[in-house]
Amino acid sequence: MRQAGRYMEAYRELRARFSFEKLCSDPALAFEVSLQPHRAFDVDAVIVFSDILIPLEAMGAPLAFTDEGPRFAEPIRDAKAAGRLHPIDPARDTPAILETIGRLAAELAGRKPVLGFAGAPFTLAAYLIEGQVGGRGIEATLRMLYREPELLKRLLDLLTEMTIDYLGAQIDAGASAVQLFDTWAGRLAEQEYRGFALPCQQRIFAALSRRSGKRAPSILFVRDGPHLVEAMAESGAGALSLDWRVPLSRARAVVGPRIALQGNLDPAALFSTPDGVRRRTEEILADRRGDPAFIFNLGHGVLPETPVESVRVLVDTVRQWKD
Ligand code: CP3
Repeated sequence: MRQAGRYMEAYRELRARFSFEKLCSDPALAFEVSLQPHRAFDVDAVIVFSDILIPLEAMGAPLAFTDEGPRFAEPIRDAKAAGRLHPIDPARDTPAILETIGRLAAELAGRKPVLGFAGAPFTLAAYLIEGQVGGRGIEATLRMLYREPELLKRLLDLLTEMTIDYLGAQIDAGASAVQLFDTWAGRLAEQEYRGFALPCQQRIFAALSRRSGKRAPSILFVRDGPHLVEAMAESGAGALSLDWRVPLSRARAVVGPRIALQGNLDPAALFSTPDGVRRRTEEILADRRGDPAFIFNLGHGVLPETPVESVRVLVDTVRQWKD
């Protein structure tokens, strides 16, 4: 999950001097921000600092990060707009994330894994179609799904091909594992998830596991997806990252022993007292006691108002846990 961000003083200081885009596009700055949670809390893995929407800009969709969140100037609502998107060559079009991963891998060599990541095609399509995701969620995307499914599928195809190249390049640059974020796929019923989101995920994980170059474990995150766990297990991901809406013991019963599970403390629980944070963290650890394929994580990114002390208590609790 997103571990750097505005809840950290060191991040706010850099953000006061540089735009979010600048932090993502300058490898020296992205390297610094990526390491902030590592230095502050000694987390077990470092996720590269970037954003899932950055490669969409490289595909030809002008993007701005505003105070109200990310926004595409020209939402993609028809075939003509979709036709303006083009494939990318990651080395040429998204050099910053690759360079940052390379620097992180060299810095942390063998001591800590570096996570690369990408948005999953359905979630990327949703941001492109909506332009800006607001109070009505992804209504324009759902309209396209039910009225013009072939157009949505064409868009998803293009995004799937891009994501295969993009994650492959991150693995070659030194990522120890990659996470695919399908934040909005949980909005779908299982049937539409199987029709539109899952096939893209499957193509991506199959391509990554078949590639001739370096390989790396993969993780799939879906937010709001308790009803989708069984289908997620068919994605080909080595690990499923789940939010707090599904008890991990139930997810384990559904997916069987072969797939790793990652999760799933509600980031809002970090607003609790230090004792409360410790208790909730230990409840999840106790629930997964003896599970050899469990990665403790938050169920979503750290919220901006989170007390830093809570994050420290969380990491220390996980570190000190004896299984
Ligand atoms: O911990 C890290 O350093 C990882 C970096 C990371 C960011 N975004 C940085 C970021 C990762 C892994 C993401 C993923 C991401 N981005 C997702 C998928 C995971 C999820 O959270 O569901 C999505 C949907 C996005 C799109 C996005 N980017 C949104 C909706 C927003 C605005 C919301 C917000 O919190 O402001 C962003 C901006 C963004 N991406 C910030 C960060 C640190 C905040 C930027 C700032 O104001 O400084």
